[in-house]
Amino acid sequence: MTREDRQEWLECDVADLAPGSCRYIAHEARSVLLVRLADGALRAYDGLCSHALLPLDGARVRRGAIMCPHHGARFECGSGDALGPPASAGLTPLELKEDDGQGEGQVKVLIA
Ligand code: FES
Repeated sequence: MTREDRQEWLECDVADLAPGSCRYIAHEARSVLLVRLADGALRAYDGLCSHALLPLDGARVRRGAIMCPHHGARFECGSGDALGPPASAGLTPLELKEDDGQGEGQVKVLIA
């Protein structure tokens, strides 16, 4: 079994994910935060906030930053970098494929 055989990709619907917004998706024991940048580009991050490892369920994009709903940490949308306390580390980026045979408005995110 190769490393590629063990990879797990999560297919996500992003057709209605508007520029400047994000979506939290939970799948079994993993979670993903998908972010649509203002220019339409997509990013995927691990769904746990780097501050206290709480789920980013309910996160919002405000003024170009992802806002954690728990203690207000802010992260740069395009890189996931922490923009200040209480988070000292950025979000963990996940590999994302937009044109890999999935349907229109679907992406695949590497979750394992
Ligand atoms: S868990 Fe996100 S700011 Fe504390």
